[in-house]
Amino acid sequence: MNKFYITTPIYYINAEPHLGHAYTTMVADAIARSRRLLGEDVFFLTGTDEHGQKVERAARDAGIDTRRFADGIAARYRELFAALNISNDDFIRTTEPRHVRAAQAIWRRVRDSEDLYKATYEGWYCTVDELFVPESQLVDGRSCPTCGTAVERLSEESYFFRLSKYQDRLLDHYRDHPEFITPDIRRNEMIAFVSSGLRDLSVSRTSFKWGIPVPDDPAHVMYVWFDALTNYITAAGFPDDEVRLSRYWPADLHLMGKEIVRQHTVYWPAFLMSAGLPLPRRIIGHGWWLMNEAKMSKSLGNVVRPQGYMDRFGVDALRYFVLREMVVGQDANFADDTFLARYNADLANDLGNVVSRVTTMIVRYCHGVVPERSAGSETALDTELQERVAAAIANTLAEAGRFDFSAGLRATWELIAALNKYIVAREPWALAKSPSSRALLEATLYNAADALRIVAALIDPAMPESSERIRRMLGSPAESWVDLRPGTLRSGARLGPIEPLFPRMEHTVDELRAMAESSDTRAPEAAPATANSPATAAGGPPAAAAASAAGDKITIDDFMKVDLRVAKVLTAEKVPSSRKLVKMTIDIGTEQRTLVAGIAESYEPEALVGRTIVMVFNLKPAKLMGIESNGMVLAASAEGGKPVLVGFDQDVPPGTRVR
Ligand code: MSP
Repeated sequence: MNKFYITTPIYYINAEPHLGHAYTTMVADAIARSRRLLGEDVFFLTGTDEHGQKVERAARDAGIDTRRFADGIAARYRELFAALNISNDDFIRTTEPRHVRAAQAIWRRVRDSEDLYKATYEGWYCTVDELFVPESQLVDGRSCPTCGTAVERLSEESYFFRLSKYQDRLLDHYRDHPEFITPDIRRNEMIAFVSSGLRDLSVSRTSFKWGIPVPDDPAHVMYVWFDALTNYITAAGFPDDEVRLSRYWPADLHLMGKEIVRQHTVYWPAFLMSAGLPLPRRIIGHGWWLMNEAKMSKSLGNVVRPQGYMDRFGVDALRYFVLREMVVGQDANFADDTFLARYNADLANDLGNVVSRVTTMIVRYCHGVVPERSAGSETALDTELQERVAAAIANTLAEAGRFDFSAGLRATWELIAALNKYIVAREPWALAKSPSSRALLEATLYNAADALRIVAALIDPAMPESSERIRRMLGSPAESWVDLRPGTLRSGARLGPIEPLFPRMEHTVDELRAMAESSDTRAPEAAPATANSPATAAGGPPAAAAASAAGDKITIDDFMKVDLRVAKVLTAEKVPSSRKLVKMTIDIGTEQRTLVAGIAESYEPEALVGRTIVMVFNLKPAKLMGIESNGMVLAASAEGGKPVLVGFDQDVPPGTRVR
């Protein structure tokens, strides 16, 4: 069995985790899950980087003992990762004895290679990034070029690592292993950096104590990056467990943000070469989440906390958003309106809707049991769907192999769109009316459910919880990506209880922002319900006129709150003792509803039957003349005129959204 060892950076514990930290871990998790689905023996490592002056100071500022402080924040990381459904196999803390042993062991090996010497370090240091900053790179002569905080002057005895000795070997390695650093932009930067000449690196400090003691010289603690990078071999068993080490090391993928690619592609391989250990296979530097055009970071105070989004939208909505929205390698802006739009469009409308349509129809037309495939009755439409399924499998797997979940999810969503179209084109609700169409109805619902099974499998790495929920609804077991193909859903399986996957989110962006910023996790009060009266539907002033009279403009989010759907009138009759009201039964694709509308003066009930109308799908029910109306019909009403129903110039199937 192939092994796959994947790591995230280990995170500093001077502050609470934010979305940037969560992001790397979510991407790594999706990769780890995809490799497990391919049958690989995955070892997925994350953890915390606990030493260094920054942590020592943060603990002192908080008035807490450094070790207790470290325990507190490390626990917050663990909790966050559990809430994010992260499937890490190990969580390493650099204060653990196993790591102290490993860091000291690699130090000795480097020392034995005669790559360490003592000298005085005289220069600038950024404590936030734990980096030595050359004077020529200072911004305004005093600030760190990476994070903008003021640097400190250091002058102390230090061990130096002979980094300069490895310049040519590093360049040779980059040349011989073009996949070592990705994307190309990072690779080119590193080639340029190393080619411009490497200076030896200071790897110990004497001015503080919160670090791993240098072997045989306890006045020194190791430079935090020397200590931290070693975590990757500690967790693989170094130095004690040779069997494990030879199984998992070298790592197959170190994943991180672009700002620490240099430490991973220059320092780390040089330390490993010096210690006589193999180099990791691949380093990927992803882009940054930006907020207001700046890197989201604690020092700038512009961070998004993941918890609020998980509470409101569910963990998979957050996972989906970050994986879909950021193309690995590029920066992305975290904006609430994009989040909300993606949630409502991709998750509520596309995925949620198709799952609810298919499962509801199987319940309604097939007693909740997956029907027979009845291949004999299929047509070109079914073959086309199966081709779409096969293409989605091939494309999603190929993109996952390139660690590109944005493209992978896009490929899966193409299948969801195709499935929605297939249902609309086939009109199972129409087939259900005639016994002679029974075989085709069953074939349609089988194929649709089978395609859903594939969707569930393809979203599994990105959205494990939703994948599992869809499978439960379909009564279908978990399945691997090996040999995933259309047509293997088991007929006769009983569907599980149907539950909404991603209910439409009716909050505005402003409400969301307030929720994300507040620590209060309760949802705000629901907006007052619009009056569900036939007068509003067909007899009131035109909506635009009313809005402009009030001087108001609504946002697209306000508009998107109104879920407009196409429906077909099945029956219509006048409401006794009412001049205006008509009671109708309408078909909205997945269900039938009763509607009452004030259009009797314009339309004879018989003329309404079979007509396509537009209705407000998500209006609270209201009683009109004792009849419950579940929605509202759209009609235009000129001043003093009679209502005229909204219609289409082409056939549009029931259930289609109008916007
Ligand atoms: N402790 C070091 C890493 C040592 S690895 C041997 C460190 N820690 S950190 O807490 O600052 O985390 C940095 C990592 O968090 C980034 O490399 C990236 O993976 C993630 N991110 C932090 N902010 C981020 C964004 N704004 N956007 C995307 N990822 C970000 O550096």
